[in-house]
Amino acid sequence: MKNSFRKKPLSLLLEEMKSEHRLNRVLGPLALTSLGVGAIIGTGIFVLIGVAAHDKAGPAVTLSFAVAGLACIFAALCYAEFASMVPVAGSAYTYAYATLGELFAWIIGWDLILEYGVASATVAHGWSKYFQDFLGIFGLGVPKLFANAPLDFDPSTGVMSLTGSWLDLPAVLITFLITVVLVKGIKESAGFNAGMVIVKVAIVLLVVGLGAMYVKPENWHPFAPFGYSGLSIFGHTIMGEVSTGGAPVGVLAGAAMIFFAYIGFDSISTHAEEARNPQRDIPIAIISSLVICSLLYIAVAAVITGMVPYDKISIDAPVSNAFKQVGIGWAQLVVSLGAITGITSVLLVMMLSQPRIFLAMARDGLLPKSFFGAIHPKFRTPWKSTILTGLFVALLGALLPLRLLAELVNIGTLFAFVVVCSAVLIMRKKHPEAERPFKAPLVPFVPLAGIVTCLMLMCSLPAENWLRLVVWLLIGFVIYFFYGRKHSELNKIKS
Ligand code: ALA
Repeated sequence: MKNSFRKKPLSLLLEEMKSEHRLNRVLGPLALTSLGVGAIIGTGIFVLIGVAAHDKAGPAVTLSFAVAGLACIFAALCYAEFASMVPVAGSAYTYAYATLGELFAWIIGWDLILEYGVASATVAHGWSKYFQDFLGIFGLGVPKLFANAPLDFDPSTGVMSLTGSWLDLPAVLITFLITVVLVKGIKESAGFNAGMVIVKVAIVLLVVGLGAMYVKPENWHPFAPFGYSGLSIFGHTIMGEVSTGGAPVGVLAGAAMIFFAYIGFDSISTHAEEARNPQRDIPIAIISSLVICSLLYIAVAAVITGMVPYDKISIDAPVSNAFKQVGIGWAQLVVSLGAITGITSVLLVMMLSQPRIFLAMARDGLLPKSFFGAIHPKFRTPWKSTILTGLFVALLGALLPLRLLAELVNIGTLFAFVVVCSAVLIMRKKHPEAERPFKAPLVPFVPLAGIVTCLMLMCSLPAENWLRLVVWLLIGFVIYFFYGRKHSELNKIKS
């Protein structure tokens, strides 16, 4: 059991950094912030806002965005502290290995599959919705059999139903396309990303600026038709109302759903190696990209719910559809195209991150190196795990409904945030002497507030997600005890 809590020494991490071919330190705070915004704005704001407003919060979804943003800021401050303490490429997985020990590192690494792998499937679905919306503008469409996942999940009743489709073919196709691009090796060019970010932010500003002219304040009444709370613990309602299906509804329930929109800021930490001054700039970029996105999201939510009565908001392509409903066809077209572009870049980052986390875990011996550590001789990419990720994402994206996937991603990511916030508290106590170029302010308040707000959002998700999370983690434990513990590279170091 002792082995499970062994830590990867910081000196070893820094040694590894030196020994391999490393990237150029070229990114400043602006480029890093733009990478963050590029990873964040996607399916959450363009798609999930619809179901959150329609079924969970009504116009008060604006407040839901504020609540989810706040939870993320607390977690982001803790992330930033870790990123500055262990400024190596990687993610929460690497930080946990250095600070909390192998088992925790494995749990986080395993949990990050929910964040990156399952989120990619969700994002691919979102892409498909806008692609179909775009085709629809020209009177075209994907045949019904291939337009959707075979199952759908009605959040208001909690009932799964058949959609009459076999699979979501556009989601599968975009996943394959991105997989090919990633196997061949995309130089994560900050310039390319900056272009995507400009398109996305311009579209969001267009939505806010143009949409504001079509706002009818009466659409904001009633403001919170589902109430302001929505908290349940394992199916027992603590505060607020529930839908007929027993799922919590209200501002908090809306926040738990659109939390998805904020996921991605942590991917900035994977650029620590390329940052000119990681200890200063990574924390700045994490926090500024979150603040920018929070402000944009709150503005979009206020405008969309002001343009269309909440119960008329589309749950497939809500942002472009709002312009259709107010009769501005060209804006529907522009927003649809912008959403397709924006969502593609999120998918690219998510599907790029997953194999790299596998790679880090394989290098440490926790996953088979021959597969997850394999680098393509010509393209120099982790091609086998990229293809595996592509297959996994395509399968989930083809068959499972978007909302169910999004909730699974949210509970998994919220769990990772709770661990990271707790880790900051533990490290402050155990290693007060460690160098912390960036310190989360107001400790213990900030990490505790992060833990409480993330746990609260976890409790605002429909209860069955806890069961799914526990099953996922149990599968992870079994793999660790039968494989990772025995093959860990740390076995080679005499303690
Ligand atoms: N935040 C990302 C999105 O909304 C995952 O698509």
